[in-house]
Amino acid sequence: MKSNLLFILFFISLYAFGQTTEMPSDFLSKDFHKERRQKLREKLPANSVAVFFANAVRNRANDVDYVYHQDPNFYYLSGYKEPNAVLFIFKEKQTAANGTKYDEIVFVQPRNELAEMWTGRRLGESGVKAQLGLEQSFNNTEFKKYNIDFSKFDQILFTDFENDVRNDPRDSSDLYDLIDQFKVKVNYPSKNKSLSVNPEPPMNNLNTKDLHGLMGMLRGIKTKEELALVRKAVSISCAGQIEVMKAMKPGMSEREIQGIHEFVFKKYQAEDLGYPSIVGAGHNGCILHYIDNYKPEITSKEMILMDLGAEYRGYTADITRTIPVNGKFSPEQKQIYELVLKAQEEAMKICKPGATFQQLTETTKVVINKGLKDLGIIKTEDERHRYYPHGCCHHIGLDVHDNGQRDMLRENMVITIEPGIYIPENANCDKRWWGIAVRIEDDYLITKDGYDHLSAAAPRKPDEIEALMKLPSPLDAFVLPSLDNKK
Ligand code: GLY
Ligand code: MN
Ligand code: MN
Repeated sequence: MKSNLLFILFFISLYAFGQTTEMPSDFLSKDFHKERRQKLREKLPANSVAVFFANAVRNRANDVDYVYHQDPNFYYLSGYKEPNAVLFIFKEKQTAANGTKYDEIVFVQPRNELAEMWTGRRLGESGVKAQLGLEQSFNNTEFKKYNIDFSKFDQILFTDFENDVRNDPRDSSDLYDLIDQFKVKVNYPSKNKSLSVNPEPPMNNLNTKDLHGLMGMLRGIKTKEELALVRKAVSISCAGQIEVMKAMKPGMSEREIQGIHEFVFKKYQAEDLGYPSIVGAGHNGCILHYIDNYKPEITSKEMILMDLGAEYRGYTADITRTIPVNGKFSPEQKQIYELVLKAQEEAMKICKPGATFQQLTETTKVVINKGLKDLGIIKTEDERHRYYPHGCCHHIGLDVHDNGQRDMLRENMVITIEPGIYIPENANCDKRWWGIAVRIEDDYLITKDGYDHLSAAAPRKPDEIEALMKLPSPLDAFVLPSLDNKK
């Protein structure tokens, strides 16, 4: 009898807390989020509060929304993966009307049986307490009447959300309503005429400038727990590159190659992509963020540029490999490829704490400009050109272009080094170079005196790529029947 009761209580509690038994167990721990909130609190100015809104649900069309993805700051500080929430982190302890002392409070979307039947389980206020450890957790319907006197703070820090606001709130507990309520409370000036227009001048303690930088100081330096997830995301993304190198054949489509990468990601339980996959054959590779991936048949003489990152428990890799479709680099392809590789390797030589992002970029630019001149593609090394139009490095983490300090490298930062050369059709050079686009992008953990090359498993050297492309692929046997209705 007693054990029956326990059994029933167990299932009731699963329901009450939003059943999570089907969730992977290696998400960031609640201790991680708690410690991060404390670290932010330590950085906040005296008598201040930091405000974070969950990401918006964005409508795709009619009844379909874009797949929801939490705002990285919100996720970093709470672990909460649902929309329609606002989190406050106070520098000092506050006292609630009932005398409770607290220094953080979150308002989350309420449990709702019908909504959960359609779109999935919600944690609700009690689930947030139990699973995420945020003890001051309330339904967002309580926010309006919850009395926080915003005028008493010297600073209210938040990042400006004006551009993020859709002007057709669906119900009174959604993000837009929360933002609107917050704006009313602080007299925030609204540029969007359809939102509340506050008659009073805004409070003079609003600070929309500093929170991004404070969060960058935290998020740019990865903890041990984060690094385990970054490493996993990178390993999975390398596996995608390796399987594609084996499976690549002329005649495949860009979309099919994208599919192989993404299948490998999912096979290894990556829940998402860190950014839309870039798979561009030939001159499509010259479009830096080419995500159409529409070319139906890649041809033997082209190279294909593949920039993809698996997202694993929120953390993304960012890896690019460029390979010859037929498995062998042509002399021109190889010359450009080796130039990009050299630029990357020169940057790797100076990659350690103290080096600046600027130095890394400059190093790659110098190598590439000299090489382009030696090949006769540009006339002088200081010629202005568009063959390498981007910087070479950025942080990765919860975002592919992650928030982090961008002055110099520090231990436990994770960055990319990603030089490239892109020569479009009709470029002002010999046409044997036309349509060649190469980017090589790797991920590096900055260590005490250098780096750990996290994405080294995916071959980068031309002979290693050519050797791998000769190996058979399990997908060689995966041939689907034609769907053409030919009689
Ligand atoms: N995948 C985007 C980038 O390399 O920055
Ligand atoms: Mn990148
Ligand atoms: Mn990339």
